Amino acid sequence: MLSPLQIVRTQYLPIIPDALQEIQRLSFFPEKINALAQDDAKIQKAFPKTYGQPLMVAKTGNEKERSAKRVGVVFSGGQAAGGHNVIAGLFDALKLLHQQSILLGFLDGPSGIIGGKRIEITEELLAPYRNQGGFDLIGSGRTKIETEEQLLASLATVQSLKLDGLVIIGGDDSNTNAAVLAEFFLAKGCATKVIGVPKTIDGDLKNPYVAISFGFDTAAKIFSEMIGNIGRDAISAKKYYHFIKLMGRSASHIALECALATQPTYAFIGEEVSAQKKTLEQIARDLADLICRRSELGKNYGIILVPEGLIEFIPEVKALIKELNKILAQTANVDLNHVISGLTTSSGSCFKSLPEAIQKQLLFTRDPHGNVQVSLIETEQLLADAVEKELQKRQREGTYKGKFNVLRHFFGYEGRSGLPSNFDCNYCYSLGYAAALLIDEGLTGYMAFVQGLHLTASKWKIGGVPLTSLMGFEVRKGREKAVVSKALVDLEGRAFSHFSRLREKWAIEDQFRSPGPIQFFGSQEITNSIPLSLAIEENS
Ligand code: FBP
Repeated sequence: MLSPLQIVRTQYLPIIPDALQEIQRLSFFPEKINALAQDDAKIQKAFPKTYGQPLMVAKTGNEKERSAKRVGVVFSGGQAAGGHNVIAGLFDALKLLHQQSILLGFLDGPSGIIGGKRIEITEELLAPYRNQGGFDLIGSGRTKIETEEQLLASLATVQSLKLDGLVIIGGDDSNTNAAVLAEFFLAKGCATKVIGVPKTIDGDLKNPYVAISFGFDTAAKIFSEMIGNIGRDAISAKKYYHFIKLMGRSASHIALECALATQPTYAFIGEEVSAQKKTLEQIARDLADLICRRSELGKNYGIILVPEGLIEFIPEVKALIKELNKILAQTANVDLNHVISGLTTSSGSCFKSLPEAIQKQLLFTRDPHGNVQVSLIETEQLLADAVEKELQKRQREGTYKGKFNVLRHFFGYEGRSGLPSNFDCNYCYSLGYAAALLIDEGLTGYMAFVQGLHLTASKWKIGGVPLTSLMGFEVRKGREKAVVSKALVDLEGRAFSHFSRLREKWAIEDQFRSPGPIQFFGSQEITNSIPLSLAIEENS
């Protein structure tokens, strides 16, 4: 079933940090935390048992006596390349620490924990999944463990399986779940330790200890390859404007990374649109200005990158979504008139100004967390239509004479399960080691991390950051809730500044760049490259 390249990739040996070479001698030592948590008192109240734990960093010391551990692992949420290597790292580290240790994989996401559905991971089972994309070894899901009934069912599962540890590989919501379970298990006197692993292609699970979540690098590289190819096509054919929506639920990290890699005509960054408080109409006018300028130079083509979360950053749409969330949390009645009557005047007119298809997408495409499912909203179409309307107006007024032929693309699912880059293979494998060591040390309520990602993998350091230190309060399904905070694109950061310095040139001069496919063989420069935004942020 595996292709020749996949078979060769199963043989790839991830590079591990020097410190992990002597895993038997590793222990964790507390360090002062560079905490993020807002509303400390409220977080402490919600997490009395796990709040206030120190940062833990692994260091080499004396060899220790280790006992066999029973550990469960689960994938939670959307796929991200490298997930199988987290399991491989976890498995290998557990076995190195104690040959009798057992790793169980819960099937199809958190519902597997609730229902106790699991398989034992063996080397034979794992071997064909090493360095492969996807989450198909055990599957994933978006069920949330939040009701008392679900929490008690999870407790029953880990107790009946006599688990020493549970590793939750997921994004911000799943790591929130890890924090809730860690607290709940302690409160119930259960010995199972819970460790989160930072996964998401969206790149918004960032903090002072996690420079980037895994899967981001591979997804951005795959999208960039395709954008680069389209750029080449655009300057060859010179007849289309390509509106490319890029996955990445909320923050625009993926769009920024792909822009740095491919130098498109224009890339929206949601966080900037929000900071500039732009309306949809203004956005369309600005883009139309650029298209008119290019048309005067005889360029009726280009590449426009649209982050999938853009729609939620447009202040008027954001306010509308907030109101819709509140209304929909209170009623199952999604009748259009009922919904419109519950909106404020400004949100009502914003809603009515949207095309019917987008109205429906805003109302009906919800994920299990109650969030609008932005990957299903055709934001690129919305923008292209709005720009077209503006250009037609200018054409009637005689101020624009160009052609505006649009092709739409959405890159998402094709990037998040691809063969992981060397960076993601190495990073994930080390994350698996870190999770195994944290459990072995008896720590709970931590997110595993690998630090120094901008350096060569052999220099990376591993540790655990308390999940409660990463939490803030947000409104979910109409109620305030403690959650692991999302990190948005930092408009003061080096990566965004670098992009904003160069984009004016890209807008006019066609400096499209083709990064090409992910490379596994050849010079280190191309096989082991790290995300550009990470390199720029770390100035390496
Ligand atoms: P996670 O936050 O679970 O990592 O998922 C990320 C993501 O790939 C988003 O970029 C996208 O909006 C969403 O999942 C799509 O969800 P689904 O897989 O349910 O269609």
